[in-house]
Amino acid sequence: MENKELKIGFQKILEGNKNWIEFVSKDKTGRFQQLAKGQNPEILWIGCADSRVPANELTGTKPGEVFVHRNIANMVIHSDMSMLSVLDYAVNVLKIKQVIIAGHYGCGGVAAALSRQQFGIIDNWLCHIKDVYRIHAKEIDAIADHDQKVDRLIELNVKEQVFNLCTTSIIQNAWKERNDLAVHGMVINIGTGELIDLGSTFTSNDDLGEVFAYK
Ligand code: CO
Repeated sequence: MENKELKIGFQKILEGNKNWIEFVSKDKTGRFQQLAKGQNPEILWIGCADSRVPANELTGTKPGEVFVHRNIANMVIHSDMSMLSVLDYAVNVLKIKQVIIAGHYGCGGVAAALSRQQFGIIDNWLCHIKDVYRIHAKEIDAIADHDQKVDRLIELNVKEQVFNLCTTSIIQNAWKERNDLAVHGMVINIGTGELIDLGSTFTSNDDLGEVFAYK
């Protein structure tokens, strides 16, 4: 059975690529020939899978400048092999200098985690956000407005994911070898386009606390 809309949707993707091919062919800097040989990005972006928060557009960066990992609600789960593999490659092979964990206001994942509704298998992922709520329950419960509650949990979740990232052996071993690696927490305002620094930057394991900082 033929689905016309589905076909048109796919055609749109191919048409979009034609525009990109034209853009690449008109580039006289040799940038794309260089990129075809390899990458040398300085930024690792860990963001939400949400379609509204593309790393390059938000940061004014071009192909080749940002190594990207995205999942539901920009989580850093210590047993997530996909995240760990991206992180290991970014830190130890690409020698990334800036890691940005980027949340965004209006994040559906965080809103879902704050509800009592079941959504399916994703509930087990969202439980990690419920854990963040548990740490900060007092502060979140004190906020009356529901949207403000969600937005505050979005900020706190980013900060907790920054902490989770800094407690990995990958980041801490890199800090032993070099002093040019920073981890930042940021939140995106989709409506204004603003990328807001949450001021939770780590450049060493000094402030992680004794249990978390490896010798
Ligand atoms: Co989101």
